[in-house]
Amino acid sequence: MMDKLKVKQSLNLQGEVKISGAKNAALPIICAGILAGSKLELTNVPNLKDITTLVKLLQGMGIKIQFADNQMQIDANGLNNFVAPYELVKTMRASILVLGPLLARFGKAQVSLPGGCAIGARPVDQHIKGLTAMGAKIEIEHGYIKAVANRLRGARIVMDMVTVTGTENLLMAAVLAEGTTTLENCAREPEVYDLANCLVKMGAKISGIGTDKMVIEGVEKLSGAQHAIIADRIEAGTYAVATAITMGDVTLTNTRFETMGAVIDKLTQAGALITHGADWIRIKIGQKVKAVDLKTVPYPGFPTDMQAQFIALNTIANGTATVVETIFENRYMHVSELRRMGADITVDDNIAVIKGVNTLMGTTVMATDLRASASLVLAGLVATGETIIDRVYHLDRGYENMEFKLNNIGAQIERLK
Ligand code: EPZ
Repeated sequence: MMDKLKVKQSLNLQGEVKISGAKNAALPIICAGILAGSKLELTNVPNLKDITTLVKLLQGMGIKIQFADNQMQIDANGLNNFVAPYELVKTMRASILVLGPLLARFGKAQVSLPGGCAIGARPVDQHIKGLTAMGAKIEIEHGYIKAVANRLRGARIVMDMVTVTGTENLLMAAVLAEGTTTLENCAREPEVYDLANCLVKMGAKISGIGTDKMVIEGVEKLSGAQHAIIADRIEAGTYAVATAITMGDVTLTNTRFETMGAVIDKLTQAGALITHGADWIRIKIGQKVKAVDLKTVPYPGFPTDMQAQFIALNTIANGTATVVETIFENRYMHVSELRRMGADITVDDNIAVIKGVNTLMGTTVMATDLRASASLVLAGLVATGETIIDRVYHLDRGYENMEFKLNNIGAQIERLK
């Protein structure tokens, strides 16, 4: 369905937003259900398009899954099909995360190559390099990764670059491998941390969780467990920017301050007054924001998934900002759409220079990828008149009920079927 969003200028957002569970923690943890000999029970699972796509993929493999009211039960004992087909993988590239668990528990997997997406080529060579080092026989033919292994065995793997799903795939492969696996140059994103904690609850033996080196002692089998998905720091960051761009005063609840250091730091530099408790963060803006420079790097540095949102913020800030995107090679598609709204942005290779303008003007724009679409909503909140955002299915992949959450704090957003 080609829904559109109509966003009217909505300044001074006020009130509370309840943050949902993290999409990028739920996706690998749902795949970890493949490893469990009994039911894995999850709470705080966000109701998103990407999640229901993954549920469909796993059900197609014979896995029983119940998902309602943000609660999910996964029972993989009926798993009888080891293929992740192109039709599903192409719509949700995180499907690659079934590869490690299928190999670890069943010794075989056929997963369509995810292919690139709007923001880049998105290769999976590190996933394949690590699984091969653990003894998997992997061939790539007709666009599929075909992998078999008697039993994976522990290995010492140093990843060539920091890769979030690469770390997650190899971690899930190692927990049932024979012997010890050392994973070096691991991603330290909170979502990796959340997956590792869930695996430990299931009986895995992992040390170095949250660091760039994890040591995993393989075990014979894993059981189910109960686990609450960590709060989504990117969703929280997006609503924090919505508050800053509209000069509002908003409290985010059901969130975790300590996973948002780099974003909070940049918002503070922009002039936001930020207070917080154990599970809430309040953002208050008294005057127009100041331009903030940033460079995207792996966690705990500034996250690439917040780059588009901060470019939107900088379009109406006082001063000029320089943004450097170092993770993905093509993650500035939102820039041309923001320019159509009157933004003054120039891009040269992976550097964007944004000169603040007085205001943006509403018009029709098109979303191209998940976080780019979020940045267009943020721009629409501050732009004069109305902004129509096309292809909002991108938004629905990663934001649960965005228009409801924003309208609840004073925005005027309407979904056009
Ligand atoms: C994860 O993608 C996230 N997705 C992305 O979020 C996020 O932007 C990204 O990490 C970076 O933080 C999920 O967790 C489901 P990478 P992932 O492997 O794992 C290169 C969103 O908006 N690379 O960390 O695919 C790669 O090309 C999405 O929710 C290789 O070269 O990203 C990229 O340049 C978008 N070979 C860099 O590493 C590999 O084998 C980081 O990619 C793997 C990665």
